Amino acid sequence: MLPQYLTRSARFPYLCQKFMAMDSKKASESLTIMTELVLPNDTNLFGNLMGGRLMYWMDIAAALSAHKHCNAPVVTASVDNISFENPIKLGNVVHIEAKITRAFNTSMEVHLKVWGEDLTQQYKYKSNEAYYTFVALDPNRKPRTVPQLVAETDEEKKLFDGALRRRQLRLILGGKMKPDDALELKALFFKD
Ligand SMILES: CC(C)(COP(=O)(O)OP(=O)(O)OC[C@H]1O[C@@H](n2cnc3c(N)ncnc32)[C@H](O)[C@@H]1OP(=O)(O)O)[C@@H](O)C(=O)NCCC(=O)NCCS
Repeated sequence: MLPQYLTRSARFPYLCQKFMAMDSKKASESLTIMTELVLPNDTNLFGNLMGGRLMYWMDIAAALSAHKHCNAPVVTASVDNISFENPIKLGNVVHIEAKITRAFNTSMEVHLKVWGEDLTQQYKYKSNEAYYTFVALDPNRKPRTVPQLVAETDEEKKLFDGALRRRQLRLILGGKMKPDDALELKALFFKD
C-alpha cells in the first residue's frame, strides 16, 4: 500500500520503478546448477558419457534457467554448435551451470558450462560450453514477451554484448534473417 501522503504525481515514478523492476530480472536469478553421476547406461563403448545423454541434461538445465527467468513454459528453439573438449568418464560427476545471457522479445539465450569431476582422484576438468535459445509460450502456445535481462558482473556484461551477434548468426543459419539485416554481425567483418 502507498502511504496516504503520496500525491498522484509522486506515485507515478514509484509505480514506474515498480513496473520496470518487474519487467527486468538479474542474470543471477536464472542461475541453474545440475549435478549428475555417469552410470553404465549413460556411456558409449569406450566407457565415456554419450554426447546425446549430456545434451539431454544440458537441455533440461537450460530450460529450467529460461523458465526461472520468464516464469512461463519454454521450448528449445535452437542449439548452437557443441564441441566435446574432454570425455566424461564412467563414475565421474557431471556439473552443468546454466544462466541467461540476454533476453530479446520472446526468446532468451542461455549459456551453459559443463565440467566433469573425478571425486576419487579429486580433480575437475572442462567438458564443453554451449548456447541454447528458448522461446516462452503463452497458454495458446504462441510466443510471449519475456522480462529484459540485467547483466551485473563483467562476465555477464561480456556475454550480454556478444549475444546480439550470436543471435544474428543463428537466425541467418536458421533461415530466419537475411545476412544484410545482421548489422552488428557485419560490423565485425567490415570496418568503415
Ligand atoms: C521456436 C518457435 C516457438 C518459434 O515460433 P515462430 O512461429 O517461428 O515464432 P517467431 O518467428 O515469431 O519467433 C519467435 C521467437 O523465436 C525466435 N526463433 C525462431 N527461430 C529461431 C531459431 N532457429 N533460433 C533462434 N531463435 C529462433 C525468434 O527470433 C523470435 O525471438 P524474439 O521474439 O526474441 O525476436 C517454434 O518454431 C516452435 O514451436 N518450434 C518447436 C519447438 C520445439 O518443439 N522444441 C523442442 C522441444 S522443447
